Amino acid sequence: MVGTPIPHPASGAPPAADVVVVGGGVIGLSCAWRLADAGLRVVVCDPAPGLGSSWVAAGMLAPVTEVHYGEEPLLALTLASARRWPGFAVEVEAAAGVEVGLQQTGTLLVAGDADDRRSVQELHRFQVTLGLDVEWLASRQARQLEPGLAPGISGALWAPGDHQVDNRALVAGLLRAAAHVGVTVCPVAVDHVEIAAGAVTGAWTAAGDHIAAGTVVLAAGWRSSLVGGIPDGLVPPVRPVKGQILRLQHRPGPVRVLTRTVRALVQGSVVYLVPRTTGEVVVGATMEEMGPDTTPTAGAAYELLRNALRVVPGVSELEFAEFTAGLRPGSPDNAPVIGPAAAASGADGLVIATGHHRNGVLLAPLTADAVAALVTGHPGPPEVAPFGLARFAGGASPAAAAAH
Ligand code: GLY
Repeated sequence: MVGTPIPHPASGAPPAADVVVVGGGVIGLSCAWRLADAGLRVVVCDPAPGLGSSWVAAGMLAPVTEVHYGEEPLLALTLASARRWPGFAVEVEAAAGVEVGLQQTGTLLVAGDADDRRSVQELHRFQVTLGLDVEWLASRQARQLEPGLAPGISGALWAPGDHQVDNRALVAGLLRAAAHVGVTVCPVAVDHVEIAAGAVTGAWTAAGDHIAAGTVVLAAGWRSSLVGGIPDGLVPPVRPVKGQILRLQHRPGPVRVLTRTVRALVQGSVVYLVPRTTGEVVVGATMEEMGPDTTPTAGAAYELLRNALRVVPGVSELEFAEFTAGLRPGSPDNAPVIGPAAAASGADGLVIATGHHRNGVLLAPLTADAVAALVTGHPGPPEVAPFGLARFAGGASPAAAAAH
């Protein structure tokens, strides 16, 4: 699973393709796989395919417990993608011949002290008004589900439809699935998109290679805003949002501190613990507006561990395996940008698929279906329609519109 070898990408860029996908994370790879499966010649360019924020992520598929006030329009998108996930996982596994570690075991959102309980109960009321499948559990009921929870917790919210996937196994699976349908993965960055007479004609790599293509899909996470050659006004407004995250590991043996994902509010701070069947427990994550900084800090490690231990004391016995930081691509309304660069853009053939922020893994199936439909000229998933780049042109956004 985590140790699954990743296929070695091709080193030279081919001279021509139908589509160049800029970025080889879960979004870029999912799009590339779907596009190649539809019969197109696809090249993915990424200096370190699969090893960006997709590798650092926790792999939560959590539309319900990740819902935030004011982000209701995003919920239609996340729920639609969550519904696609079981089928998507089966398809990737069948194409790749490796498992991706989808665990459909639900999620508990635990409240630490009495103040935390008031906040989580308030969130519960909000979720109920949205018609979401959630149930309030007393502390005793939550501990029956997860005996490793601390006796002092003050209650929990049970979200039976929020799941998880092993993001690293997923990356390996997507690389294999993409290779299986002929996608070429080039370990190089795209320097700039080439546009002539109002239409995309290809991409130039940082190594100086030209790849002729009539379509370029911009799926490079927060770096999508740094790719050259894109006309003013069509650059996706994405920024890096730092997330520091720990990976712990059980010692050999059957004992597990948790069997399902636990999120928690601990004296106002959010922490999550995502247990894998492999014995790994992922503990995350900070949310920091620090620009493109990926330095892991002692203070963040301390806070994540302190909060995790308050909720699941047995975590103290786990092996400390890894501490890293990744950069989520955040947009002005924290929702993704998916669609053509603009309706009448002067950049025909430029497609944007970035800004997935906290929901990249969750939104990969829906994004890939939307991009494949757009490029092949078919109707796409209707939930994606409000999430084009145009929403930022006049300062309006789905989230802002919902708030008025
Ligand atoms: N979706 C979890 C995170 O971004 O930290």
